[in-house]
Amino acid sequence: MGAVADLHIAHTADLDSAAITAARALLGDVFAGEMTEDDWEHALGGMHALVWEGPALIGHASVIQRRLLHGGRALRAGYVEAVAVRADRQRRGHGAAMMAALERVLRGAYDLGALGATDEGARFYAARGWQLWRGPSSALTPAGLRRTPDDDGAIYVFELAVPLDTAGELTCDWRDGDLW
Ligand SMILES: CC(C)(COP(=O)(O)OP(=O)(O)OC[C@H]1O[C@@H](n2cnc3c(N)ncnc32)[C@H](O)[C@@H]1OP(=O)(O)O)[C@@H](O)C(=O)NCCC(=O)NCCS
Repeated sequence: MGAVADLHIAHTADLDSAAITAARALLGDVFAGEMTEDDWEHALGGMHALVWEGPALIGHASVIQRRLLHGGRALRAGYVEAVAVRADRQRRGHGAAMMAALERVLRGAYDLGALGATDEGARFYAARGWQLWRGPSSALTPAGLRRTPDDDGAIYVFELAVPLDTAGELTCDWRDGDLW
């Protein structure tokens, strides 16, 4: 018998310090030390999906709000961050369960969903129907609009009511650390 996994959805404001500590530790382990302070900060201020096995956190993902410019509009985007399942619990459907919960949030609150994917994540999101952004990406920086060519080919979107031209330009708002 496998351990029972519980999926919890909560805003950052409602996470206790044990959940915050467990999430940071999980992300540090899964991303093998490549999770920066900025990456962690990017995951805060929205809704988290957490998978617990008893007291052990085995999955984390969150969706936060950003503005994405596309087709002459500043769209309200639900931006998915910090998606990770503990290595020994992967390929058991936990990632899919977290994404299904966050996609419900996207449908209810945002013009589109978006994220910047790892190579492994890309296959996972594509399998869920997320679309690869094929057009040029850019960011609104303090110095003006700048192309972000290193992120081209790694941005995925979840189309909702607003029609998207994935061959067009997509521009994100400014933040410290990785822009996408
Ligand atoms: C990506 C990740 C979150 C997926 O979580 P998971 O719990 O393993 O995924 P699931 O079991 O829910 O997989 C659902 C489906 O997604 C696809 N999928 C998941 N991981 C995949 C992979 N590594 N390669 C190809 N397809 C994959 C499959 O279609 C899978 O269904 P299947 O197992 O029936 O074939 C997890 O592998 C992970 O934490 N990876 C390391 C961190 C990372 O790269 N995060 C993404 C950041 S953008």
